[in-house]
Amino acid sequence: MASTPTSNRGTWNTKIGFILAAAGSAVGLGNIWGFPTQVADNGGAAFILIYLLCCLIVGFPVMVAEFTIGRRTQKNPVGAFKALSNGNPLAALIGYWGVLCGLMILSFYVVISGWTLAYVFEELLFFIGYESLAETIGDLGNGPKNAIFTLAFMVLTVLIVTGGVSQGIERATKALMPILLAILVVLIIYIFTLDGATDGLRMYVSPDFSTVSGGLVLSALGQAFFSLSLGMGALITYGSYLNKKQNIVESAAYVTIFDVGIAIIAGLLVIPAMFVAQAAGVQIFNPETGDLFSSVTLVFDVLPEMFHNVGGIIGMLLGVTFFILLGLAALTSSISLLEVPVSYVIDEHNVRRKKAAWMVGGIVGVIGVIVSFELGLIDLFVFIFNEIGLPLGGLMICIFLGYFWKTENALLEMKDGFDNIDNTAFGPVWTFFVKFVSPLLIALVLASMVWGLFGG
Ligand code: PFF
Repeated sequence: MASTPTSNRGTWNTKIGFILAAAGSAVGLGNIWGFPTQVADNGGAAFILIYLLCCLIVGFPVMVAEFTIGRRTQKNPVGAFKALSNGNPLAALIGYWGVLCGLMILSFYVVISGWTLAYVFEELLFFIGYESLAETIGDLGNGPKNAIFTLAFMVLTVLIVTGGVSQGIERATKALMPILLAILVVLIIYIFTLDGATDGLRMYVSPDFSTVSGGLVLSALGQAFFSLSLGMGALITYGSYLNKKQNIVESAAYVTIFDVGIAIIAGLLVIPAMFVAQAAGVQIFNPETGDLFSSVTLVFDVLPEMFHNVGGIIGMLLGVTFFILLGLAALTSSISLLEVPVSYVIDEHNVRRKKAAWMVGGIVGVIGVIVSFELGLIDLFVFIFNEIGLPLGGLMICIFLGYFWKTENALLEMKDGFDNIDNTAFGPVWTFFVKFVSPLLIALVLASMVWGLFGG
């Protein structure tokens, strides 16, 4: 049953709608592309174990923190930190940093999402015999083509966000997430009928602990923040549309489990698929270094070559559905990336949603077009706004919540929807993690990153 919105900001219609929207934000390119390629790169199951630990001891506590801040204040990240600190400009900076990260991450996210859209056409064109056109559409270095698909994806994202919280974001994610899951399962079942798939599975489940290093923990934590959509206030924003009946802790647990689960399941598709390609004669390891090819090469060269090798209508269907899967996952995430700056403009500058979405979408579109031509910017943006930006945001959120707003106040907010919270160990355990464990771990990882940057 639809609940009546308490303000004109909008609210989620249903409990499951909110969980799916947040899970949709979390499940994206980071799960289906980033996670499997990082696992393959970093010693198989050893990476998975460290990653799971990062999600459990840092990701989950920070997610609960973000939902709580959002629901408590019913505001965008900037407004939220202002509200909880009586307008302290330093606290508001955490929110501004989130808005900036949202803008900049989205600017390269839409370019990569544009590639996935382009590859749906590439696979179709290849199948009907237009091989040279397929090659043009599949050429990642083709700036004008990249710009067109980037803008197309951006428009799609804006159109959903203009629909608002329940009629736009919730409706779209509720429709798209089951499709995404179904495609994933069908593709996995098929891939395991092909030669080489079990070699991939073997690599996936056998840990190589010799690869565990500081660098690996760094990658795992960065991946956890990105994949769980943490550190930039996307989940503060989604939490701000929550009603007081929803159990925040339970919802965060569902979203974390869902996100981690989909990443692990996606690994069952992508890693075996790489080895199927290898069994068919496609190179997946760089012959000079012996390392696995980069994630871009794996997803946009190796896999399409494998689909072409399978050939016929089956090969085409495999390719098309794989890239539709990636595109859908990207879309439910890009709407949350856009929603952060959009909610800021709506709340803080009193702009109507439609205008705000097109305005912010326009800015991101312009940066996205620049990135389309200058692909080197992707690595730079990933480094600044994702690898440093998100953990830094997470660190500031933990410190603010733990030492300024105070965990007791947060726990009081969580009580709404979780009546017997005081009879469980959740309060003290969560407090310990948010105040000590998570910030310490994030700070260590950030410090080692900075240390590495200066050649340490
Ligand atoms: N979680 C998304 C992914 O795994 O692709 C990316 C993302 C979305 C990051 C929203 C951050 C965010 F706020």
